[in-house]
Amino acid sequence: MKEHINQFIAEVTKAARNPRFKHHSWYVDYHLKIVEKIAISLCRKYPAANRSVVLLLVWLHDYGKMVDYEHQHEATITFGREKLAKIGFKPAMIDQALEYVKIIDNHGRGDLAQAPIEVKIVSSADGAAHLIGPFYAVYWYENPQKSICEIMAGNRKKADMEWKEKIVLPEVKKEFKKRYEFILEQNGYGRIISFKN
Ligand SMILES: [Fe+2]
Repeated sequence: MKEHINQFIAEVTKAARNPRFKHHSWYVDYHLKIVEKIAISLCRKYPAANRSVVLLLVWLHDYGKMVDYEHQHEATITFGREKLAKIGFKPAMIDQALEYVKIIDNHGRGDLAQAPIEVKIVSSADGAAHLIGPFYAVYWYENPQKSICEIMAGNRKKADMEWKEKIVLPEVKKEFKKRYEFILEQNGYGRIISFKN
């Protein structure tokens, strides 16, 4: 299993570094590796979680973005299935991983509260990774055609959505609350700070 996962990580890394992928210069080091680090750390907190499934989900959940950005959710399922099968993952593992990715992608429907722990770990780690990587800063860089107010509104909306829908584990909420508020502040939810004597 470990060997198969390593092969898949190598494939995703290759796909993510393809210059045709719009986030190619930062995605592996400043998104996927951060998600992995948080997710593995959460596995220690939740020992019943299957680490192989967690690791596979970390590297699978954004695969579609790299191969067909416009149809990313469908692409993760189609191309993900193809790639995992080619590497030699068992069909049951492939089905499970793809089912779990669908739950992660459907975060807006609120299925995550009842989701398996592996899904909760990866979804929470995914949302949290955006709060400590350069994600919100990169959005400025990658969208120079947008107005400042538009970018700030977009960042607030994204941060808020991820906080409410994707970050579902209480430990992650607790650990990342200040970072979330900081992002909101930097993107327009300013507060008046008053210093007391
Ligand atoms: Fe992600």
